Amino acid sequence: MSKVISAHAVSVDGYITGRDAGAGRGLGDAARLFDWYFHGDTPSRVFDGFRMSEPSARLFDTLAARVGAIVAGRNTYEDSDHFGGGSPHPAAALFVLSHRAAPEMTGRQTLITTGIEDAVAAARQAAGGKDVGLMGGEVVTEALRAGLVDEVVLHRVPILLGGGRPFFHALPGHVRLRLVEAVAAPGVTHLHYAVER
Ligand SMILES: NC(=O)c1ccc[n+]([C@@H]2O[C@H](COP(=O)([O-])OP(=O)(O)OC[C@H]3O[C@@H](n4cnc5c(N)ncnc54)[C@H](OP(=O)(O)O)[C@@H]3O)[C@@H](O)[C@H]2O)c1
Repeated sequence: MSKVISAHAVSVDGYITGRDAGAGRGLGDAARLFDWYFHGDTPSRVFDGFRMSEPSARLFDTLAARVGAIVAGRNTYEDSDHFGGGSPHPAAALFVLSHRAAPEMTGRQTLITTGIEDAVAAARQAAGGKDVGLMGGEVVTEALRAGLVDEVVLHRVPILLGGGRPFFHALPGHVRLRLVEAVAAPGVTHLHYAVER
């Protein structure tokens, strides 16, 4: 069975964007959450143009190569300028979870309006045996609530942003995690957890 994984760049105080994220502005004043994508000398084998430190590239590419489809929340889709009509991942189909229509969507993108279970099921089908990646704080929380998440990766960037969109939202109870790997790299610490059931 393919897995459902979430990998986000997160500030030490838990934000995945700055205060002014939005369409045309990306992560807003938190663009430095992605600095580690570009401040190294090891090119990514999956994402053109990414040059990371060697330990970051090893971990990042291993995760990226596992992903065959993505479920992104509507806010992520909007704030990323609709991913230019494509997908945030060079080899993964995109499914956008929303409550409302998205007439601008292209044939390479699929809208799901019937909830996280249907979004993950459709993505799993499209992933052809590979894993499903989740994008967006609310979407990850929805998936955690539904018991659908297998792994959570925090690319923890050493900054206190002081505000923005929080990664984690309220959950009805505890979710136990097991640390699978911790990798300290220049500009980021990668914390890879498995969700315990
Ligand atoms: N730092 C990183 O690594 C990273 C990674 C990914 C994204 N981001 C950023 O994070 C921000 C978005 O995160 P976010 O937490 O604000 O939002 P999000 O999870 O991307 O999207 C939330 C939206 O998705 C829809 N949604 C969520 N659950 C749903 C459900 N069960 N059924 C139907 N629709 C549902 C709703 O859209 P509607 O009700 O509006 O239709 C909801 O407002 C963006 O700025 C993005 O660029 C950062």
